[in-house]
Amino acid sequence: MVAKAALYFTVKHNSYICCMSKANAIVMSGIRPTGFLHLGNYFGAMRNYVKLQDQYTCFFMVADLHALTTHPDTKELKENVHRVLAENIACGIDPDKAALYCQSHVRETSELYLYLNMLAYLGELEKTTTFKEKARMQPDNINAGLLTYPVLQTADIILHRATWVPVGKDQEQHLEMARNFVNRFNHRYGHVFPEPLAYNFGEDLVKVPSLDGTGKMSKSENQLATLYLADTDEVIRKKVMKAKTDGGPTAPDSAKPDYIENIFQLMRLVSTTEVIAHYENAYNDCSIRYGDMKKQLAEDMVQFISPIREKAESIRTNESYLQDIMEKGAEKARKSASETMNLVREAMGLHY
Ligand code: TRP
Repeated sequence: MVAKAALYFTVKHNSYICCMSKANAIVMSGIRPTGFLHLGNYFGAMRNYVKLQDQYTCFFMVADLHALTTHPDTKELKENVHRVLAENIACGIDPDKAALYCQSHVRETSELYLYLNMLAYLGELEKTTTFKEKARMQPDNINAGLLTYPVLQTADIILHRATWVPVGKDQEQHLEMARNFVNRFNHRYGHVFPEPLAYNFGEDLVKVPSLDGTGKMSKSENQLATLYLADTDEVIRKKVMKAKTDGGPTAPDSAKPDYIENIFQLMRLVSTTEVIAHYENAYNDCSIRYGDMKKQLAEDMVQFISPIREKAESIRTNESYLQDIMEKGAEKARKSASETMNLVREAMGLHY
């Protein structure tokens, strides 16, 4: 038996609350099609997107152009784009509610990216944390696209004049840069764009720790300690059973070491309250058997992930359905983009 974990949004900033109450707010986010989606993406992003799509005008995009900055080989791009789309739909994104589209299908993105590049300074781009990190990771391919990655991301967002961007902490610097580019544009050419803000659901929303007791689940690193939405039941069981434990607590009500707390945390995401209470009690009275606990967690994970995996798989292999979805999403995105670009060309004086 599995209880889906309830999600509680704790919104910390008052300004967020006041802006969020505007029903006409525009939400935009992007996911790079590089690597498999995992439980952390699900609880940290997709679950939230699904809620947002009922309240706001949402644009969710697969960032295939951004992927080219780090993955120039396009052999697997199509498959990856299809998989990410299918996984997003399987997680509850409804293409009839949100615009779910592919970045390269909206050519206006590239035009706006070009204009914004004239407003972005080398110094600030070079200082970006993600640029420095990626430059270190791929010293033989420090291309200009990598440098201007935040400019392209800004174009994605402001193309729809979006104000809310649901992203993780690692993207906050990009959002700050987006606000700088927006302010520069507005100052130079006239007010066209609102400032986008990270919509981060509060810092303590959900933590999805990795299975080896270090850090969070990750798209590419640490694959044995991460549960992917595409993992088979057998793989899920194997990974969970390998999670680090110890001989158990030796004194009642002792504090949990991090790697044990992580197992409890994962259980809180997918297991019933009865199951969680059972193991909490067993921990506190020192009767806990981690082997049993992990078996239970493995089964609850299988119950949680397998329907998503199966649904994603059936969508992924239905190419004509995917084509329809992409076309429908691109149409909605292009409509919004072309309205913005008319304003942009007008403001810039590019109407002759
Ligand atoms: N840079 C984002 C990431 O790596 C992906 C992304 C591309 C994005 N364009 C975006 C996120 C626009 C939000 C808005 O996760």
